[in-house]
Amino acid sequence: MSVQPNTEQAQGEGLAGRDDAGFSEVGPLGPPYPIDARINEAGRLEVGGCDLVEIARTHGTPAYVFAENDLRARARAAVAAFGPQTAVLFASKAFPCTAAYRLMAAEGVYCDVASGGELHLALKGGFASERILMHGNNKTPAELQQAIDARIGHIVIDSFDEIERLSEMLPADGPRTLIRVAPGLKPSTHAYIQTGQTDSKFGIPLSQVEQALKKAPNFAGLHCHLGSQFFDVDIFRAAAEVLAGFGAKCEVVNVGGGFGIPYLEHDHPPRIAEYAGTIRDAVAEHFGADTRIMVEPGRWLVGNAGVTIYTIGTVKEIPGVRRYVAVDGGMSDNIRPMLYQAEYTATIADRAAAKPASDVRVVGMHCESGDVILPEVLLQDPAVGDTLAVPATGAYGHAMASNYNGVTRPPVIFCADGAARVVVRRETHDDLARRDVE
Ligand code: LLP
Repeated sequence: MSVQPNTEQAQGEGLAGRDDAGFSEVGPLGPPYPIDARINEAGRLEVGGCDLVEIARTHGTPAYVFAENDLRARARAAVAAFGPQTAVLFASKAFPCTAAYRLMAAEGVYCDVASGGELHLALKGGFASERILMHGNNKTPAELQQAIDARIGHIVIDSFDEIERLSEMLPADGPRTLIRVAPGLKPSTHAYIQTGQTDSKFGIPLSQVEQALKKAPNFAGLHCHLGSQFFDVDIFRAAAEVLAGFGAKCEVVNVGGGFGIPYLEHDHPPRIAEYAGTIRDAVAEHFGADTRIMVEPGRWLVGNAGVTIYTIGTVKEIPGVRRYVAVDGGMSDNIRPMLYQAEYTATIADRAAAKPASDVRVVGMHCESGDVILPEVLLQDPAVGDTLAVPATGAYGHAMASNYNGVTRPPVIFCADGAARVVVRRETHDDLARRDVE
């Protein structure tokens, strides 16, 4: 796809969409790209003021390149949109990287962790322990103890087994608890990332919530998380209504995350102000205006800030069938197309301003026919040696990366104001054997 500056967007919706603080969720290159991405004088794609072709030469590929200012701007915008009565928690599973934890903590965001490992990283990244909340449908006793010892703010109870465990472990002055409810609501998104339905491994079904309310130690409120990457804001109204149906006295109501982001040029998700307004109104209507709110966006905070860069190594024409363009990464750095049929766009960073006219399939280097990153995309005459940029890979890319086929996981590079800094280095071949025991 070309990243021709979207003037209509820039002049119309983009600017009109600025909030009071001057934040526009969409930059000049259109929805999936970082806010400060642009095409520079050389006709190349730039992120955070850094030329991606230069970054590829200096740091190698594949690499996760993040626009640091985009991360900061989104964190600030979310905190501002929801206001002081709401804790915006970074669902850190989306990008569990110490530098990201550090940045989010500095921007006044709270943190959701889903394991002892994420808790370790969140503390290392500088989150005040009382700002951390722990999730998980099967936390181990060791993880619960770790959370209690660290004196985190909240633990989300996911089952009756956990109520029993916590009743024995939790001191009265320890973390407060929320009960996760499976509200029986299904947002429109891929089935693998729907979580609010009754037939789910997550949460307590509606029919058993009253029983859980009677037993939960250190109870502070109710929680639900409906799913991920959905655009229907109104489902949060339904969620608040369902949670309120139990008549429980809640200090805090947590409606989870899942706020959808643009992956493609024509994706126009609701703006953060719409999510915030709807959620605030719904909780105020059903629980009272003084009730504290929590939300847990992961992808929304980090997804569009990240662009993955690859080097094209092979261009293979199958006569009468199609052209395959193979890059030096694939399902090991972005499993989302294979797991959820997630769609992406891409551009040749070297010729970002050129018209894309070649209809190709972009594949990875793994030993799997399913290792297809973009089944069909228009690119600017892709050639061996070009840098391919895939935007909107900031969430669940680094997080779900693997060493499949013995690849070394890519570095994470933060770019801001023309300077690039590596915050996670590329793995080495020695790293691949690091855990070996003679
Ligand atoms: N809160 C809870 C309890 C969650 O389980 C999740 C995501 C979130 C918040 C954040 O959801 P987000 O705002 O990032 O959509 N690997 C999948 C997504 C799985 C999400 C799991 N839970 C993907 O790549 O789309």
